[in-house]
Amino acid sequence: MKNDLPESAGAARQRAGFLQIEGLAKSFIADQAVFADVSFTLERGEFVCIIGHSGCGKTTILNVLAGLDQASAGQVFMDGREVAGPSLERGVVFQSHALMPWLTVRKNIAFAVASRWPGWPAAQVAAQVEKYIAMVGLSAAIDKKPAQLSGGMKQRVGIARAFAIEPKMLLLDEPFGALDALTRGTIQDELMAIVRATGQTVFMITHDVDEAILLADRILLMTNGAHSASGYVAGGIGETVINTLPKTRTRAGLHHIDGYYALRNHIVDFLIERARPGANPP
Ligand SMILES: Nc1ncnc2c1ncn2[C@@H]1O[C@H](COP(=O)(O)OP(=O)(O)O)[C@@H](O)[C@H]1O
Ligand SMILES: [Mg+2]
Repeated sequence: MKNDLPESAGAARQRAGFLQIEGLAKSFIADQAVFADVSFTLERGEFVCIIGHSGCGKTTILNVLAGLDQASAGQVFMDGREVAGPSLERGVVFQSHALMPWLTVRKNIAFAVASRWPGWPAAQVAAQVEKYIAMVGLSAAIDKKPAQLSGGMKQRVGIARAFAIEPKMLLLDEPFGALDALTRGTIQDELMAIVRATGQTVFMITHDVDEAILLADRILLMTNGAHSASGYVAGGIGETVINTLPKTRTRAGLHHIDGYYALRNHIVDFLIERARPGANPP
């Protein structure tokens, strides 16, 4: 499943960034693009979050980056090659867990690992599966089926599966949105520790401002498409915020860090005042 197109060495050299998104647009209705002119880059090892109101096109962008959907305009390059279809070089965690209900945790992850490395002997697949299940603290549940797990545990399995294929990039679509606050906090801490330890490149959608501030090096703020007096205006990236809070930040200590409230207020103000141009005429 490696459908990405090769690119000439010269063209790849000219490109900056590990993931390069250029002029992306998507329309489901003619002349009313959900978003347009979306361009940004991710450096290797960077954690970038995207925040915006429901319907602005976050999931659509993520699906295009994953190669699961096609943009109406624009291009995506990962590691110098154009993304042209799904690939096991990208690990995706969806809003709901997307596990195969008839398979145990072990078999759900083994399926992905064996697809990624078809030549591996069973023992090597098993070792990889056990390593990543242990990483998310689920060794005791390895032979259970999804129905026997809590929502938080199922999302952990999804995360373990995405990491177990050692993707070049992780794409996370509100992976903790359905969890209670306590479980969400614990898994956020786990994810942060794993990402720091592995240097994984991550693109994550969230609607939780604190989650973005905790996890992201950079936060993209999206506007919704809207009708205005001068016609329809497509949504897009309204602003990019660089998170300068210390990397050692933790969820529990976030609100004690200098600059946290200023950053939080800035993002919340964007969401209230600038993200929906049609709903808040100037
Ligand atoms: N397959 C589709 N057909 C028609 N409209 C769609 C389709 N997928 C998404 N949309 C529309 O595109 C917009 C963006 O959707 P989505 O990317 O899911 O937004 P978000 O993830 O930011 O909530 C929404 O208005 C949604 O109704
Ligand atoms: Mg969505």
